[in-house]
Amino acid sequence: MEILVYDQFDAASDKAFDFFVQALATGPKTFGLATGSTPEALYQRLVESDLDFSQSVSVNLDEYYGLSSDHPKSYHYFMNQHLFQHKPFKHSYLPDGDQTDSDYEIKRYNQVLADNPIDLQILGIGSNGHIGFNEPGAPFDGLTQLVDLTPSTIEANKRFFDRVEDVPTQAYSMGIASIMSAKKIILMAYGEKKADAIYGLVEGPVTPDLPASILQRHPDVTLLLDKAAAAKLHL
Ligand code: GLP
Repeated sequence: MEILVYDQFDAASDKAFDFFVQALATGPKTFGLATGSTPEALYQRLVESDLDFSQSVSVNLDEYYGLSSDHPKSYHYFMNQHLFQHKPFKHSYLPDGDQTDSDYEIKRYNQVLADNPIDLQILGIGSNGHIGFNEPGAPFDGLTQLVDLTPSTIEANKRFFDRVEDVPTQAYSMGIASIMSAKKIILMAYGEKKADAIYGLVEGPVTPDLPASILQRHPDVTLLLDKAAAAKLHL
């Protein structure tokens, strides 16, 4: 695992941007994308660049259950605002938060993932070590699931909503096995709130209690961190 620590998280976003440039240098690619505040500056750099995604595919990690793509708090809406409306891809796939037939949606999204193997996956991390919405206890061999969000995740994500009651309690998420099948993974994190999760990811045991710890077993992972997120590492 490559671990790069920067004084300023802006430099981590620059480095993540470089990985996109490199990936596109050899032709269109399939990109696994994440939401949250962590990749926002990366997406801003992509938007401001002259990179062309019109022949590339994007596949997102997750979506809140019950929110349609045009709901301002949905991840689909977030991706449109931050990236897709400025930089259209050939196809952009996300789970459909409006689909109440979860068996159907899970099957559909697993087929999307099977048809579009991910070249470069961007990840953030929850302060409890979740990746996508794979909460502690999620199986390492899991594919797409309808997940119950933990109280700590609901608490952490309430800042995006007017009231904590408005935060959906479930989400569709790509499973850990699908994330692990990406050729390359970049996990980004900043701030002291992420320091324990980053410590567990890098130096802790590989355990479903801290889902991101499975990344120790992936052959090509780069962590892009600021000093605060890396503070507990023995580098
Ligand atoms: C959410 C998302 C994750 C994201 C995490 C961290 O729960 N499902 O994909 O990595 O939060 O978010 P942030 O980057 O805002 O800290």
